[in-house]
Amino acid sequence: MTTYLEANKQRFLDELFDLLRIPSVSADSKFKGDVRRAAEFVRDKLTAAGLDKAQLYDTPGHPVVYAEKIVDPARPTVLVYGHYDVQPADPYELWNTPPFEPTIRNERIYARGACDDKGQFYMHIKAIEAMLATDGLPCNVKVMIEGEEEVGSDHLGTFVVEHRDMLQADVILISDTSIISNETPSLETGLRGLSYVEVQVTGANRDLHSGVYGGGVANPINVLCEMIASLHDEQGRITIPGFYDNVTELSDEERAELAKAPFDLEEYKRDLAINDVMGETGYSTNERTSIRPTLDVNGIWGGYIGEGAKTVLPSVASAKISMRLVPDQTPEEITERFTKHFVSIAPAGVTVQVKPHHGGMPYVTPVDSVEFEAASKAFEDAWGKKPVPTRGGGSIPITALFEKELGVKSILMGFGLDSDALHSPNESYGLFNFYKGIETIPYFYKHYAALKQ
Ligand code: BES
Ligand code: MN
Ligand code: MN
Repeated sequence: MTTYLEANKQRFLDELFDLLRIPSVSADSKFKGDVRRAAEFVRDKLTAAGLDKAQLYDTPGHPVVYAEKIVDPARPTVLVYGHYDVQPADPYELWNTPPFEPTIRNERIYARGACDDKGQFYMHIKAIEAMLATDGLPCNVKVMIEGEEEVGSDHLGTFVVEHRDMLQADVILISDTSIISNETPSLETGLRGLSYVEVQVTGANRDLHSGVYGGGVANPINVLCEMIASLHDEQGRITIPGFYDNVTELSDEERAELAKAPFDLEEYKRDLAINDVMGETGYSTNERTSIRPTLDVNGIWGGYIGEGAKTVLPSVASAKISMRLVPDQTPEEITERFTKHFVSIAPAGVTVQVKPHHGGMPYVTPVDSVEFEAASKAFEDAWGKKPVPTRGGGSIPITALFEKELGVKSILMGFGLDSDALHSPNESYGLFNFYKGIETIPYFYKHYAALKQ
């Protein structure tokens, strides 16, 4: 297997570059054709890798790509999930090289989607190709790569329900998360959920002269800022009544276990160019970004932001707010509590509207399963080290859905780094990580087949 990888290294990279050149931005309808082109590219590479039945499944949104290789129905089946869509590349001017012209610098691939998730799911296609080419695929494999992950996987739920039999598997394998560092491999054992809302505060029926009316009429931007500021208390806790009701507190033992993961606070601050961290009192940075829920403004707008000064009281102010959720919070419950609270704190003189966007359930995967053991052993084989179990802060809402609809657990075998700048300008993925992933994946199949005997 490793010789096959060695012999095909450059081609694997060239193919990934071709995929990275396709701007498959799911959020922006002007890229709709490119999104489809990326799906077709993936389909063709699945066929070329030796998988059967590779095809596009149309949805009301972007297509799902699916292929499979059933080597023996008696063997265990692995369902690989990934996403070929990417986040918008804006702001383009902050990229050192264009986002859709992949470039190598310092042993890293720079491009939008290099790590999230094109570079990561493509490792699976190449690992499967290598196993098939060397007669070493010990499990059945199904591959499902979707095109709407970055916009909330709106149509995937229906797709999964409608294709339950086709997708039936023993385990779901996903590479769309991070490891601690290239020296300290890790396996994420949980993901946060998400509740995303847009709020609008409206004052007078039109923009007003801030001299003529200022001081006498509510300014929606002032009001919105005060309302948002009141959503956290001095301890960094969220003030929405009932927000923490369903939060599962970890035991001291569980917290001590997670605290074993190496973490260098000084390096963390240096990387982000900040002079201090902040967050909820009583929790470490790692805990604040994984096992604790959050509320953050993602964008805020209103009034005059053009050149120079315009004296105006805006009629409307808006913000987009995300809440990261932990077990056993649900997006429905949290969105409802947020809405009720936010409307209730609106002062007289304005009206408030809350519009819910997409959401997703938090997810945890057990560490005492053969699936986790197989992944752990795969890391040991390829990295010479046992991976450290961690809890992740990001969200992959489909994991909870897979569990609910298929009754199958997901293994989060990601190979990225938090410093890969996912969703940011200059996203990158290490060549080391790309190739190490291709090397690690076949070990998972080997151990999983053996453990399921
Ligand atoms: N791959 C990420 C999630 C992720 C990143 C998990 C790093 C763990 C470590 C995924 O593509 C993503 O960005 N998810 C969105 C979900 C949303 C759009 C529903 C997120 O977390 O914001
Ligand atoms: Mn992703
Ligand atoms: Mn993402």
